[in-house]
Amino acid sequence: MSTGCTRRVRIRDTIVENVHHVLPMHSNPIGTLHGGIVLQWMITTSTLASMRLARKPTLLAGMEHVFFINPIRVGENAVFTSWVEYVGRTSMEVTTVVEAEDPSTGERKLTTVAHTTHVAVGPNLRPIPVEACVDAVSDEEKRLQEEAIARRERRAQRISRRRELVKDLAPPRPLDERYVITSYRFAYPEDAVFHNAVFAGKLMYYLDELAGIIGLRYAHGPVVTAAVDATDFYAPILVGESIEMTAALTFVGRSSMEVTIKVIARDEARGEARHTTTSYFTVVHIGRDGRPRPVPPFEVKEEWQKMLAEEAKKRREVRLSLLAAMKETGALKPF
Ligand SMILES: CC(C)(COP(=O)(O)OP(=O)(O)OC[C@H]1O[C@@H](n2cnc3c(N)ncnc32)[C@H](O)[C@@H]1OP(=O)(O)O)[C@@H](O)C(=O)NCCC(=O)NCCS
Repeated sequence: MSTGCTRRVRIRDTIVENVHHVLPMHSNPIGTLHGGIVLQWMITTSTLASMRLARKPTLLAGMEHVFFINPIRVGENAVFTSWVEYVGRTSMEVTTVVEAEDPSTGERKLTTVAHTTHVAVGPNLRPIPVEACVDAVSDEEKRLQEEAIARRERRAQRISRRRELVKDLAPPRPLDERYVITSYRFAYPEDAVFHNAVFAGKLMYYLDELAGIIGLRYAHGPVVTAAVDATDFYAPILVGESIEMTAALTFVGRSSMEVTIKVIARDEARGEARHTTTSYFTVVHIGRDGRPRPVPPFEVKEEWQKMLAEEAKKRREVRLSLLAAMKETGALKPF
């Protein structure tokens, strides 16, 4: 928990709301908002909430599972509401609610709830203390803060190997060599947020696009992003470095596919490389009516394929139980 509180702010007073009108240029081939853009806009709003509280630049350190439970259509508004629930020493727990708003009635439908952790950093991109604190005053704020602390405690084990994982450069193994893509791009100034560090929202946009290409290649038809598993960012990517993104098909369900994407930041001039993140996307093949359509079954024959599928099944079980829990409680927007 933050020690030196020079400012105290109520959770409710940390809210940042962003509204975007969804245009055809934001949509996928079936006329709904592109999942990568939802991720980018979501991370923009959560980053703003954290920076406004900290009064310092912040980097996205991690994101819990994100499920897209309702689409946002062209012509609707996409409403992003973020607030800071808890301040650690250098990190902040932020929740973002994303809703589709019908502009003619004002009626809103929940698209997703995302929990992210943002870390205040100095010019060398290393963590620095946050001097502000958030106070939970109402019962609702107290509940949100307790949940944020519980998430932080549950995550401790998951992130304990974060510094070691920076060195893990092995590419993800696909179920079948036909369904793997390695794509490179330079980190341009336009990708950066500050101090020459690539903005996580931009990276997630690129990853979503790659997941979609693998899904499309396997399903031979349109896919939408249904979920992104909890994702940790182990090292920043700097402008001028190359971003190596390897996307591999790692599971095939009835209509859904899991795509594992590993990102390596390469300083080509020095011949150095850092594992930035590994993220698991679930994409679903859909028909013109927006409903899921079956994909060709994938026959797992080899022993190593069985092992891959077993690992993916475990991730799928975690995902499905978290999704069920979110559907039960997530529709609640406290403010
Ligand atoms: C975030 C980062 C600065 C943390 O570095 P670190 O060496 O783990 O630093 P520390 O051990 O001091 O941890 C700093 C805080 O981050 C938290 N943290 C680190 N990794 C985290 C993760 N994946 N999820 C949530 N919190 C995390 C720690 O719990 C700690 O919180 P506290 O200070 O409130 O107690 C580092 O991992 C990093 O640079 N990541 C890349 C961030 C980035 O560039 N994102 C965009 C990628 S395109």
